[in-house]
Amino acid sequence: MNDVLIQARDLNRSYHNGREQISVLRGLSLELRRGEAVAVIGPSGSGKSTLLNLLNGLLPPDSGELRIFGRAHSELTDNDWAELRRTRIATLFQDGNLIPTLTVSRNVAFRAGLAGLQQHNGEALLQHLGIADTAHRYPDQLSGGQRQRAALACAFAMQPELILADEPTGSLDYATAQRVAPLFFDAIRERALGALIVTHNPELAQRCDRILELREGALRPWDSAQSS
Ligand SMILES: Nc1ncnc2c1ncn2[C@@H]1O[C@H](COP(=O)(O)OP(=O)(O)O)[C@@H](O)[C@H]1O
Ligand SMILES: [Mg+2]
Repeated sequence: MNDVLIQARDLNRSYHNGREQISVLRGLSLELRRGEAVAVIGPSGSGKSTLLNLLNGLLPPDSGELRIFGRAHSELTDNDWAELRRTRIATLFQDGNLIPTLTVSRNVAFRAGLAGLQQHNGEALLQHLGIADTAHRYPDQLSGGQRQRAALACAFAMQPELILADEPTGSLDYATAQRVAPLFFDAIRERALGALIVTHNPELAQRCDRILELREGALRPWDSAQSS
């Protein structure tokens, strides 16, 4: 069993806007193991979302080495990535990823079904996250915080091995974030998931095993002494 979920070495990625080239990731390296939670912090525009999209196969790197579950990026077809995103990698996007035409409980069931699971613990998850009363509502009938928790329930319902989260508590008020953070980590620890969590929330970051800062296109151990 390979315990290294993500192995990235010297990744580079830029965008082209007309003639202008924006070099976002420059020689980024990262290793994430099973059971490890890593927080990624960094200013807006530093490339955090770009990094997550490289790791879930939605964007290819321009160069560098990337291995996911021991498989090299260069060997993975679009279908392989789609299969990984269905069954093994849960991505929590910044604005939630619920299907607007399905109720919350059907969103959760759908996500579990895509992952090939016959059974799921959706009800318990909604209960656990404090949104059991939203089960029969549609995403547009939820507050931002409820939507984010529903997206969390969907992610956990698929029983992933790796969670990539882009500001998973971003639209929660302070009290709700305080309540959701431990639940998030319980689920991660219970199942020994690997988690890469982009967050500005100190509560969430400090519960992680490591905090890395994305700066000048690369990840560095965060030095709290230097930043405060
Ligand atoms: N599709 C795109 N086309 C051109 N530039 C982009 C695109 N996506 C992101 N960028 C630019 O890349 C940089 C990093 O963006 P992003 O990864 O979203 O940063 P973060 O998530 O840290 O705020 C920003 O300067 C952003 O404007
Ligand atoms: Mg972002």
